Formats: sequence, structure tokens, C-alpha cells
Amino acid sequence: MPAQPPARSDLDSGNGPGHPIDAAYPNGARIWNYQLGGKDNFRIDREASETASAMMQDIGAPTGEDAAQEGRHLLQRMVDAMLGQGIRQFLDLGSGFPNMANTHQIAHRTDPAARVVYVDLDPVVSTHSAALMAGPNVVTLNADLREPQQVLGNQRVRELLDFGEPVGILFVCMLHCLWDEEDPWAVVRAFRDAVVPGSALAISHLTDETRPQAAQQLFQLTQDLHWSTPLICRSRADIMRFFDGFTLVEPGLVFPAQWRPELNNPLRVAGDHDREGEPVPVLQGAPPAQPGEGRGSDMHLCGVGIKD
Ligand SMILES: C[S@@+](CC[C@H](N)C(=O)[O-])C[C@H]1O[C@@H](n2cnc3c(N)ncnc32)[C@H](O)[C@@H]1O
Repeated sequence: MPAQPPARSDLDSGNGPGHPIDAAYPNGARIWNYQLGGKDNFRIDREASETASAMMQDIGAPTGEDAAQEGRHLLQRMVDAMLGQGIRQFLDLGSGFPNMANTHQIAHRTDPAARVVYVDLDPVVSTHSAALMAGPNVVTLNADLREPQQVLGNQRVRELLDFGEPVGILFVCMLHCLWDEEDPWAVVRAFRDAVVPGSALAISHLTDETRPQAAQQLFQLTQDLHWSTPLICRSRADIMRFFDGFTLVEPGLVFPAQWRPELNNPLRVAGDHDREGEPVPVLQGAPPAQPGEGRGSDMHLCGVGIKD
């Protein structure tokens, strides 16, 4: 699968498909929002999502909706697992539009003093996040993760997080948006090198291991429809390389439904209130299903590593 960006053309400059607020081309953050049942998307995003889902259904592969729903359940379990390790501060990188069970709501269920930084490239995502997820222990940042210093050198981030204490680093369904040429491994290394041993790294990433044909078709669709970012399915070995300098916790690098299903405890009871009396968002969708049950993604590999 090609993993280099196409040569830049006139379309790519200005408000072209690589530009996050462009409404003439499908945008990854808005598509994900649509797949999670959100309203922050345009017709171009909904059509792109439905084209992708129809294509995947035709070849019996899991859809984006499956992956998105499952990803939010996985996020909850991964954050809870990190909280169980004593981690109380989180960098949620490529966090997406505020949606069901956001990281700070999951963390504050255990400890209202937990601190969370949300980072996204999309300025509309960041504006929504700043408006909807504001709080004393939350920072939202509009930044490009391809330049980690935009995050690590940011004053608000450094004021909120104590880099002398362990940090939970979350790249959930984000790194497959970066081309090989952009060196996503170097991006992860920059965050690894900024945190102390005992910090945790959580990744969920599209893989071509199980369904190479679906992986290739999905990538090609993102190129043909000029999605704002590609979807690059990588091999298990390439995904494992993100964990260099970390030791994977049990059960290792597995499909999302196989990752600690016993931690399933979703924030999804309508009318629930958190400790401050605010209603918590409903985590929709079914709990994890084993791949092969008709839903559940066998096109993602995920894991959590602890920094050595
Ligand atoms: C598929 S969404 C995943 C959202 C969220 N992590 C989740 O699992 O629900 C990927 C997000 O990564 C963001 N993103 C893509 N490239 C990025 C970059 N270079 N820097 C920061 N964010 C980026 C997109 O804007 C989008 O919101």
C-alpha cells in the first residue's frame, strides 16, 4: 500500500482537501463524528462515510460505524486501565469532536482532579472542544501532531501537566491518518521521550493484517474522494514499532474487542450525573463484540504499553 502523500497540487493548497475547515471535501474528524451519530458534519462527509460503509459491507468487512463505536468503548477501557495504574494526567492526541464518554469524563468518574489535554488539528474540533469540555482540569489545544513541540512546548499544557509524574498518552484511531513519509513513529517517540518511566501509551490503529483487500480499497477510497487525511492500514510489525521503549501490558496487541473486555463499564446511563452534578454523555452502541460476530472490528490492532 502506498504510504507516501500524493504530490501536492493546486487542490492541496489554500482551502483544498488537506485543509481542515474545507467543506467541499470529506473531512476525517467530521466523518468520525457522523459515524458516532453526531451532528457536526456536512453532506459531503455523510456521503463519504456511506460510500465507505457500503464498500466495506459489500466485501464483508467491518464498517467505520463499527470501528468508531467500538473505539469509544475501547477508549473508556484504556483510560480506566491507566487510572488503575495510578495515572492521573492524560494527553488525548487527535481527540476528535466531543462525543460520548470523553477522556476527562471517564477520568473524573474515578478522580475529579485528573487532568486532560485534548489536541486536534481541526480548528472546528478544537473550538467545539473548548466550548463543550471546558473545566479547571482540561486544556484544549489546536495543534498539528506532526510537530510535537506544538504540544510539548505549549505553556498551557506545561502548566496543566506535571511531566515529572506519569502521563497517559492516547493515540486512538489517529496515527493511521499520517503518511509513512510524515514519520508517525518519530511523533510517538517525541511524546515517549517527554514523559517519565511508568507513563502509558495507548494506541488503536487500522491494520491490513486480516483483510488486505479491504485495507487497500479503503485507502484508495480516501484518495479518490480527497479525504482530508488518508486511512493507512499498517502491518502488525509496523504498529508494534510504535511501542519501542514501552512494555505492552496483557493481552498485548489485539483486536479492540479482545482488549480487557472485563473493564467494560460504559458511561451510558441516560440521566446519570457526575460528581459535580453535570449529566454525563451516553456511550451509545453495543458493548464489545468478538470479531466474527457480525460486528466488531478485526481491522484495528490496539494495545497499551508502559514506558520502561
Ligand atoms: C478518526 S478521528 C479519532 C478521534 C478520537 N481519537 C476517537 O477515537 O474518537 C482522528 C482525529 O485525528 C485528528 N488529526 C488528524 N491528523 C492530525 C494531526 N496531524 N494533528 C492533530 N490531529 C490530527 C483529526 O482531526 C481527527 O479528529
